[in-house]
Amino acid sequence: QIDSTVSITVVGASGDLAKKKIFPALFALFYEDCLPKHFTVFGYARTQLTDEELRNMIGKTLTCRIDKRENCGDKMEQFLERCFYHSGQYGSEENFLELDRKLKDKEVGKSANRLFYLSIPPNIFVDVVRCASRTASSPTGWTRVIVEKPFGRDSQSSGELTRSLKQHLTEDQIFRIDHYLGKELVENLSVLRFSNLVFEPLWSRKFIRNVQLIFSEDFGTEGRGGYFDSYGIIRDIMQNHLLQILALFAMETPVSLDAEDIRNEKVKVLRSMRTLQLDDVVVGQYKGHTRAALFIDNARWDGVPFLMKAGKALHTRRAEIRVQFRHVPGNLYKRNFGTDLDKATNELVIRVQPDEAIYLKINNKIPGLGMRLDSSNLNLLYASRYPREIPDAYERLLLDAIEGERRLFIRSDELDAAWALFTPVLKELDDKRIAPELYPYGSRGPVGAHYLAAKYKVRWGDLISQYS
Ligand code: BG6
Repeated sequence: QIDSTVSITVVGASGDLAKKKIFPALFALFYEDCLPKHFTVFGYARTQLTDEELRNMIGKTLTCRIDKRENCGDKMEQFLERCFYHSGQYGSEENFLELDRKLKDKEVGKSANRLFYLSIPPNIFVDVVRCASRTASSPTGWTRVIVEKPFGRDSQSSGELTRSLKQHLTEDQIFRIDHYLGKELVENLSVLRFSNLVFEPLWSRKFIRNVQLIFSEDFGTEGRGGYFDSYGIIRDIMQNHLLQILALFAMETPVSLDAEDIRNEKVKVLRSMRTLQLDDVVVGQYKGHTRAALFIDNARWDGVPFLMKAGKALHTRRAEIRVQFRHVPGNLYKRNFGTDLDKATNELVIRVQPDEAIYLKINNKIPGLGMRLDSSNLNLLYASRYPREIPDAYERLLLDAIEGERRLFIRSDELDAAWALFTPVLKELDDKRIAPELYPYGSRGPVGAHYLAAKYKVRWGDLISQYS
């Protein structure tokens, strides 16, 4: 007996995100047998396309995992047969009603569940949600909507967006995506902390000197200049991706792994944070580069600087968390390190990308006579330990949305707390027209960042390369 169908409608089907991420992720899930037995994928956009043309477009974007080439062509065909297209205006209830009819045609079983993925600019979010909820929501099953950032550009606009969305949807139906939460090493953060005795007891101001959250890209804003110029790197990366990682890193132990329990802890830690001050921000420009020092005013983290840096057009591409531990009190081997005790501190690095890894810098005796020490890495390199391709973040998140797992999606109170931290400084940067420090494409970014770090007696871990 057939129980239900899941229809996934990608609104904005001809856009970049849909082509690069959403359709390939849906195919990967299909290939892995993770999608429900009865599913359909609909593309919705203004462009006039036939089903066949959509299939051709999607077909070009699908890839097979390196270790799963078997039957891949057949699987692609089977997947594409389940893909359909409907052309319509984003603000037309009538066009969504036509979509509703097409969806009904394909739906089988007792309940029909519908997932809408909004891969569209934010100025039409509300229109689409209004039309979809009025004329294309499911009468017999659940209806869920995935939204991509930007969720506003400050506290006020984000609040307005939430209120407008909630005129048509309940909080439970809204899945706000932050794709960094779907990355393997970000998911692993809680496992590392809460299932290893050796880390959690050290996870506080008592042992941790500072935490660094680093995001850099070695390319600029190619093709997205318009969006980026008005939005900037603080809104693009820090207020969401890096802050989400910080919240998971710093939160207290949740009551359980239940979505609400985890999100409650994230909100708590975000609300314990001090609003970012202009003095603690360095902005740079090729097209965007910012460093910021943040503090959590609670018992666990009082006084520990959380330094964030995010930039484009830099010399490398990487995202990582670096945890610098305190000096060993009365270190017996102090003379081995001369005056530079930074060399002797332990550092835990969680490299989110590329080359996923977790490594811990420890001091070790160099083998041989005499007593010379150096800093070495205990290294968990994913490519060696788990030689299989890691699923893309979008795969995990899409699957979670289909299964109704909300743990990795942003709840509205989390979003409010995140904006509250950054909104005053964003306004001040605008009002005072703070001039960014210019830096050349492909460089290490603005030097002001070092002064900011020095203010808190910190050195950027990724730049002390001779020790890492
Ligand atoms: C997006 C930002 O959210 O994340 C982009 O808008 C950025 O500016 C991208 O390039 C980075 O994602 P990833 O997964 O490639 O690190």
